[in-house]
Amino acid sequence: MKYKFPHYLFIAPLAIALSCGGTKNTGISSAKEEKLPIDRKVDSVLALMTLEEKAGQMNQYNGFWEVTGPAPKDGAAALKYDHLKKGWVGSMLNVKGVKDVRALQKIAVEETRLHIPLIFGFDVIHGYKTISPIPLAEAASWDLEAMQHSAEIAAAEAAASGLNWTFAPMVDVSRDARWGRVMEGAGEDPYLNSRIAEARVKGFQGNLGEFSVAACVKHFAGYSFAEAGRDYNTVDISDNTLHNIILPPFKAASEAGALTFMNSFNELEGIPATGNAYLQRDILKDKWNFKGFVVSDWGSMGEMISHGYAKDMKEAAMKAANAGSDMDMESYGFVTHLAALVREGKVSEANVNDAVRRILRVKFMMGLFDDPYKYCNEAREQQTIGKKEFHDGVLDVAKKSIVLLKNEKNLLPLKKDGQKIAVIGALANDKTSPLGSWRIAAADGTAVSVLEGLKKYTGNTLTYAKGADVAVGTIAFGSETHINMTDKSGFAEAVTAAKSADVIIMVLGEHGLQTGEGRSRADLSLPGVQQELLETVYKANPNIVLVLNNGRPLTIPWAAKNIPAILEGWQLGTEAGNAIAQVLYGDYNPSGKLPMSFPKSIGQVPLYYNHKSTGRPGNGQPTESVFWSHYIDIDNAPLYPFGYGLSYSKFEYSNLKMSSNSFSKDGKITVSVDVKNISGVEGKEVVQLYLQDLVASVTRPVRELKGFELTAIRAGQSKTVTFTIDEKLIEFYTANKKFEAEPGDFKLWIGGDSNTTMEASFTYTN
Ligand code: BGC
Repeated sequence: MKYKFPHYLFIAPLAIALSCGGTKNTGISSAKEEKLPIDRKVDSVLALMTLEEKAGQMNQYNGFWEVTGPAPKDGAAALKYDHLKKGWVGSMLNVKGVKDVRALQKIAVEETRLHIPLIFGFDVIHGYKTISPIPLAEAASWDLEAMQHSAEIAAAEAAASGLNWTFAPMVDVSRDARWGRVMEGAGEDPYLNSRIAEARVKGFQGNLGEFSVAACVKHFAGYSFAEAGRDYNTVDISDNTLHNIILPPFKAASEAGALTFMNSFNELEGIPATGNAYLQRDILKDKWNFKGFVVSDWGSMGEMISHGYAKDMKEAAMKAANAGSDMDMESYGFVTHLAALVREGKVSEANVNDAVRRILRVKFMMGLFDDPYKYCNEAREQQTIGKKEFHDGVLDVAKKSIVLLKNEKNLLPLKKDGQKIAVIGALANDKTSPLGSWRIAAADGTAVSVLEGLKKYTGNTLTYAKGADVAVGTIAFGSETHINMTDKSGFAEAVTAAKSADVIIMVLGEHGLQTGEGRSRADLSLPGVQQELLETVYKANPNIVLVLNNGRPLTIPWAAKNIPAILEGWQLGTEAGNAIAQVLYGDYNPSGKLPMSFPKSIGQVPLYYNHKSTGRPGNGQPTESVFWSHYIDIDNAPLYPFGYGLSYSKFEYSNLKMSSNSFSKDGKITVSVDVKNISGVEGKEVVQLYLQDLVASVTRPVRELKGFELTAIRAGQSKTVTFTIDEKLIEFYTANKKFEAEPGDFKLWIGGDSNTTMEASFTYTN
């Protein structure tokens, strides 16, 4: 059916004298430009809207109705249906598939008074049907192109399924591995998070064509700093941490053109993010000149009542609207109260107009006014989802995400024939857990298991023994629920398999739904009896390659000491088993580096490399005094540091050179290093640059990542890698409450992880 232009697009723009920012390509956060036609169209629609319809645009509902069934007659679904027909719904989430999207869109554009199309959102976090590695795993690739491509694949499949908006990327800098949502972001570093945020935004949004979806940068802001790593818990952070650590990736994503932001469940300075004008208005919309819209997190407007920040939903709606929340996800706050609040003078209509403009502008940019059925093409849906090239794409990024943590006794890569291999662990034979959390459109059982991946190599003999299940605490949903598993009845079979094997591959870790929202853990060791299984098998035969499948850093000090080879295999998505097998057999040389520090003990958490010095840093070694910042029962160092990861190649760093050891305002210096592959195999290395600002108006971290380059180096060859250091790179949020570079002395390190000792120094003057 052909969509006809509604009449409002032909009326002359009415004189609504509200400011409209410019738009540019895919970005709408660009600085002041002259008013573009899109803004005139937006104004012409806005001019026709009643207050109720405006509040309706600011209302988002979860899918409420099986569209193939009869129209809902009672309860919440009937109310939503009624609102939809009245034009009181601006967006829906969790509706997918062309058929359903088309049916709902048809109501919006054919049955409502103004025919304004809906925008359809969905959590396409790491793939739609063809699943990429979890975002934390992808971050370990440090491969921005691969991550952008992975987002492109996700966007193409989602868009083919009728969707036009993903609630990703999550750019929350995460320092606390107890928090289940660390799996959804890019780890503990603001610089790495920023570069990845840009890549993901570009990947999702592309050219805003029919294979693109609008990005939603979340959760704005501070959500990952929930106390004790407990999801939704209180957040209490300094302005310094907010500006220097938490906000940079959000700013980078906004500058990369992200069309929308999502606020968050947490409070900041005692004000819930949804009602926080400092974040949403002062910083995002005023300072950063962001022109897109902000959607609340699920029900977060209503949650301001539980926070003790609003007495009822009406007050919550007022506070949210006044603070710059533009769309209400599932609180019913705006749709129920906003029009009255405007009439009572508690929310200005200008505020409402601004929010509606932002929403309409995104709909225009996504092409939904030109053709509300732009994303509703059954043939494209059929041809696009699950394409072979998408499987190749997610396999590629999955291999790149794997981190080799330890490799002794030359256990890896595996020999391709004549070996007896025992494969042990429930996760080895699991076709669901590799999909990880947040893969709502992918069916259970659609991942390639490690066992299946290994079976493709036919030169060795394989025996499989489960050993033990993965224990999971109480989980809210998911098809597999193993509560407090203590069953060791499979140990004997595992020991027998181990005894007659040359090499044992043990696949241990977390269930796919053991991380993600609401999945905080108070213990970061291998769940259930898996540690005991590992030690039991080790006694029978120590030739073990431990393959970890997990969604967060784990505490595995015993394994790190005793097990000769350890591969971090995360939850790598649809092609997980193929990726892991290819790395185990050396058909792919691992190059991943950890985006989060691995603690030795839960007591060290939150643990991150870019910490402050403190007044009593010590030197990391035992001393006679106890009066320095340390534990008396464990040292401060992580088990594996940020940026760490091995390869089947060996790299040697030398010849650190600087163009000068000082620079001044508007100047720059370059620093270079030679990296030689001293092994017999070609490999890739992530060369990392860290800086420390020694004395500043506010204390600075002991080191901070400020550049990286992923480079392939042939066996025996050497490459020179160069970084440029300028004022922009050393800027931070100073005691003057603004970003600036302060004159002073700096230290610099280059190497293959955050512990590197190859050091130089420079001075910045102005
Ligand atoms: C999560 C968001 C998500 C939203 C919609 C919330 O519970 O915090 O990240 O996008 O639900 O599913």
